[in-house]
Amino acid sequence: MKYSINKELVVLVGPMGAGKTTIGKILARELGFDFYDSDHEIERRSGANIPWIFDVEGEAGFRDREANVIEELSQLKRIVLATGGGAMMRPENRVQVAGKGFVIYLNTSIEQQHKRTHKGQNRPLLSEECDPYQVLSELYALRDPLYREVADLVLDTDKKSLKMIVKVIVHSLLESDPLNEQP
Ligand code: S3P
Repeated sequence: MKYSINKELVVLVGPMGAGKTTIGKILARELGFDFYDSDHEIERRSGANIPWIFDVEGEAGFRDREANVIEELSQLKRIVLATGGGAMMRPENRVQVAGKGFVIYLNTSIEQQHKRTHKGQNRPLLSEECDPYQVLSELYALRDPLYREVADLVLDTDKKSLKMIVKVIVHSLLESDPLNEQP
């Protein structure tokens, strides 16, 4: 084992396009943890993709599935969990992750979110008819305080390499562990 970290659940929160999945995978490898992504888990379990779930069950149906997945996954040990951008809207999800995990908010500018999301088609909230910049801005205003509410670490990701981001997170995890405290 490379590190001794007392938090066995590490959770990444933040908006669409923050890099939660990419960073989560690298971080999990670095820590020797398993990696889970709540969106992928919802798709795996339902056998349907997210736009289809939104279409058929509405956003509320998707959020129910998301809450179930987060509740279950947050019981696991030694995992990094990347959550969907809207997951922290539900108070029960905030209670789950903040109570059990070390939560990292990957704070990202609207410009970066826009850059990283404008090509994908798997995000029903950014449909072709909408002005994505405006939607991302509105969601950010609504959600930023909720991400902050649960976060043990707020990390601005703009202008930082993936390597640097992972390094800062590992450092912060080690610092949060009383066993690693310097005398
Ligand atoms: C959503 C973000 C998406 C996905 C769904 C809804 C949101 O996840 O859960 O499309 O409400 O912001 P990512 O943040 O991984 O893109």
